[in-house]
Amino acid sequence: MDSWIINKVAGAVIAALLVAFGTGTLAEILVGHGDAAKKAKPGYALPMTAVAPSGAAGPAPAAFKFAEIAPMLKTASAENGQAAFAPCRACHTVDKGGKSLVGPNLYGVVGRDVASSASFPRYSAAFKGQKGPWTFEKLATFINNPRGAIPGNQMAFAGIKSNADLADLLVYLRSLSDTPAPLPN
Ligand code: HEC
Repeated sequence: MDSWIINKVAGAVIAALLVAFGTGTLAEILVGHGDAAKKAKPGYALPMTAVAPSGAAGPAPAAFKFAEIAPMLKTASAENGQAAFAPCRACHTVDKGGKSLVGPNLYGVVGRDVASSASFPRYSAAFKGQKGPWTFEKLATFINNPRGAIPGNQMAFAGIKSNADLADLLVYLRSLSDTPAPLPN
């Protein structure tokens, strides 16, 4: 077979392919001018979700109410709180005189002034600007939503949302003390 014949065969194959694919397109072009096609909207319907205004961190979570947690503290479990503390251990020690990790040691944190662990030199300006001690309410509000409670702080943690877990955590943190603070009424 010389190259002239090969070219002819190849040309025939390409022509056949063009017809095969081209008729579909041609049909679309013809139908596309019909009335039905005009009524149908071109393109795909994309699922649209409301876009939060820039700067906001998504939709606002349900408002946190300490009043719902306070009564739970009487029956909350420090043992469960220790388990709920697992993700915190990456950054916090809890033993008396324990060292700082990424975050400060938390022994005696209930009732301690915010940003006052002597062994932690890296408190943020946001933390240093806080006044007064860690009350149960302040702790719960902070641990529920660290970024929202003290904007600009450097604790990279999303927050514990469950009231039951928060109550357990609070009584666990309270237990880390020589003289545990009285529970709120
Ligand atoms: C990724 C590391 C990280 C994780 C995880 C983390 N923390 Fe923190 N935490 C920090 C840092 C850093 C600070 C200091 C924040 C600042 O100075 O802005 C802090 C501060 C605190 C404070 C205030 C201490 C003080 O001396 O004023 C408390 C209380 C606290 N964390 C509790 C928790 C609890 C409870 C959890 C788990 C539910 C947790 N943290 C998880 C890093 C972390």
